[in-house]
Amino acid sequence: MMLQTRPLHPLFGVEVIGVDVRRVAADVFTALVGAFNEHSVLLFRGQRVDDAEQVAFSRRFGPLEATIRTVVSHQGYLPEISNLANVDAEDRMIPAGDKRIAFNAGNQMWHTDSSFKRVPALASLLSGREVPPEGGETEFASMRVAYERLPDATRRLLEGRVAIHSFEYSRGLVGQGLLSPEHAAQVPPVPQALVRANPVHGRKAFFVASHACEIVGMPTEAARALLRDLLDRATAPGLVYTHRWQPGDLVMWDNRCVLHRGRPWDVGRYRRVMHRTTVAGDGPTAPDVAGIAVAPAREADRAWCRAQLTAAGVPAAVLQ
Ligand SMILES: [Fe+2]
Repeated sequence: MMLQTRPLHPLFGVEVIGVDVRRVAADVFTALVGAFNEHSVLLFRGQRVDDAEQVAFSRRFGPLEATIRTVVSHQGYLPEISNLANVDAEDRMIPAGDKRIAFNAGNQMWHTDSSFKRVPALASLLSGREVPPEGGETEFASMRVAYERLPDATRRLLEGRVAIHSFEYSRGLVGQGLLSPEHAAQVPPVPQALVRANPVHGRKAFFVASHACEIVGMPTEAARALLRDLLDRATAPGLVYTHRWQPGDLVMWDNRCVLHRGRPWDVGRYRRVMHRTTVAGDGPTAPDVAGIAVAPAREADRAWCRAQLTAAGVPAAVLQ
């Protein structure tokens, strides 16, 4: 079965043409899995799915994650649905100064979904139900493409290393008190392999994110400098695909090798309703690490975060 596709970017990502995700025959589905492993980002346009249909399609790729409970309420939605809207479950717009908006600003830092969980996600599927007429794009960058461009010496340095990812650390960079101690306890720091190979074709990618904050056996400062360097390499101009949303777009990406971030939009003016489902990964990427310690964020770390968010266009008023 050959899929009809069109490239989204010269280096990764394709639009899949002529597929209705509510009705996918088994042979087409097999081809979709192949395309997912090969291209890392798949776009399906014109998909008017409801939550149950999105969950049903997503589940064909594997068991789904349940959403963690934070300041962003997911009440009123199926447990597998993550609500990335500036509209609450009662369909009211969340005011611009609300803590939930600052919390979601963290999504505008480069990250890969659930890398702060012991078993990180395989894939995310994001459905654009209502999209703003300007802003609110999602950007993607391939850590596989970037890995393949690394100098040999850097690849050797990364091989076999384990990084520590912490949601509390990365949200703490955005602002204080965005995660209560109770929520932080749900997401303790976890080890992740710094290099991961795709199990189908073996192509490698480094695995970093704004959640990555230590490398086991490396001094904190050196580790953070290296992690930032890798992130910068992956997201260099020319390597980023910017997705401009149309209503009905469903975008699926491979969290094992793709970074993404949301771009800001005028949250006080335009509704943006995005529902995400997340396909769970199939096991830890690294063995347990005893006595994980995460050094508190330093001024250099916060400055890097602010620079990242400012470069992404996040208004200064959102940042504390
Ligand atoms: Fe995300």
